[in-house]
Amino acid sequence: MSDTPAVRLRDASIGYDDVPIVTSVDLTVQRGEAVAVLGSNGSGKTTLARGMLGLAPVLGGEVELLGAPVGRLRDRGRVGYVPQRHTVSGAVPATVREVVSVGRLARLGLFRRLRAADRVAVGEAVAAVGLADRMEEPVASLSGGQQRRVLVARALAAQPELLIMDEPTAGVDAASQEALAGVLARISAAGTTLLVVTHETGPLTGVLTRAVVVDQGGVRYDGPLAGAEEAAGHGHHHCDPGEEPSSPGYRLDQPTVTSRSARALGGGR
Ligand SMILES: Nc1ncnc2c1ncn2[C@@H]1O[C@H](COP(=O)(O)OP(=O)(O)OP(=O)(O)O)[C@@H](O)[C@H]1O
Ligand SMILES: [Mg+2]
Repeated sequence: MSDTPAVRLRDASIGYDDVPIVTSVDLTVQRGEAVAVLGSNGSGKTTLARGMLGLAPVLGGEVELLGAPVGRLRDRGRVGYVPQRHTVSGAVPATVREVVSVGRLARLGLFRRLRAADRVAVGEAVAAVGLADRMEEPVASLSGGQQRRVLVARALAAQPELLIMDEPTAGVDAASQEALAGVLARISAAGTTLLVVTHETGPLTGVLTRAVVVDQGGVRYDGPLAGAEEAAGHGHHHCDPGEEPSSPGYRLDQPTVTSRSARALGGGR
C-alpha cells in the first residue's frame, strides 16, 4: 500500500453546489514529497485541499489519498489537516492541551483513551509550536496567531503520514514561522508527506521542494519551487486569516465548514 501515491487526482473537478471551482486537475504527490500550493487569492487552493479531504464535493474525475478514494480512508488519523479559517473558540472553554489531544484521538479512534505515549506526543506537538507554557490555558484566551499554532500542533500530534496545511504561517510571527519550518523539516525528513498552501514560501524554502501553482481552478505550474514565483505572478499577496475574504460567498460557508471538517476528521471538541 505504501507504494501508492500520497495524493492522486485525475481529471478532478471540485466545487460547491454543483458549480466547479477547481477543474480538470491532474496531480500526483508521491510519499515523502514536500509540495507548496501557490496561487493568488480565490484561485482555488483551499477548494483543492478541501476536495482532497472530502470536505468539498468532488464533482468529477478521481481523487485518492494514500491509495483510498476520497472519503474512504478508514484511518483518518493518517491524514492531518490545518484548515485556513477556523476558530477554536466555542461554548466550552477548551484548553490548549484538550484541543491538541483531540488531534491525537483522531489517530487512535473514538472512545480510546490517551496513554502515556499519547500524552508525550501531545506535549511534544505543543512544544514544537512554542506554546508549552500555555498548555493549560483556554485556547480562546490566545491570540489569533497562537490559535493557528494550536491547530498546527493538533495536526502534528496525530503524527500523520500526510499533512495538508492551508496557510499555516498566515498571521504567525517570524520566530514562530521559523520554528514551524524546523518542525516541518524534521517530519519531512522522517518521511511525512507535506502539502502546504501558502503565500509565504520564504520561511519554508528549505523544506518545500516542489510547487504547484493554481490559477483559476487549474494547475498552471508544477515543478521545482525555485521556478514557481514567476508562474505565481502578480495577485500573489498575503491574506491573513482574520482579513476579509476576497469573495463574498466565502464567509457564509464558514460555520458549516468548521463543524463539518471537524467531524469528518474526528476533530472538533
Ligand atoms: N463554500 C463555498 N461555496 C461557494 N463558493 C466558494 C466556497 N468556498 C470558496 N468558494 C469560491 O471558490 C473560489 C476559490 O476559493 P478558494 O477559497 O478555493 O481560493 P483560495 O485560492 O484558497 O484563495 P485564498 O488565497 O484567498 O485563500 C472563490 O471564487 C470562492 O468564492
Ligand atoms: Mg484559501
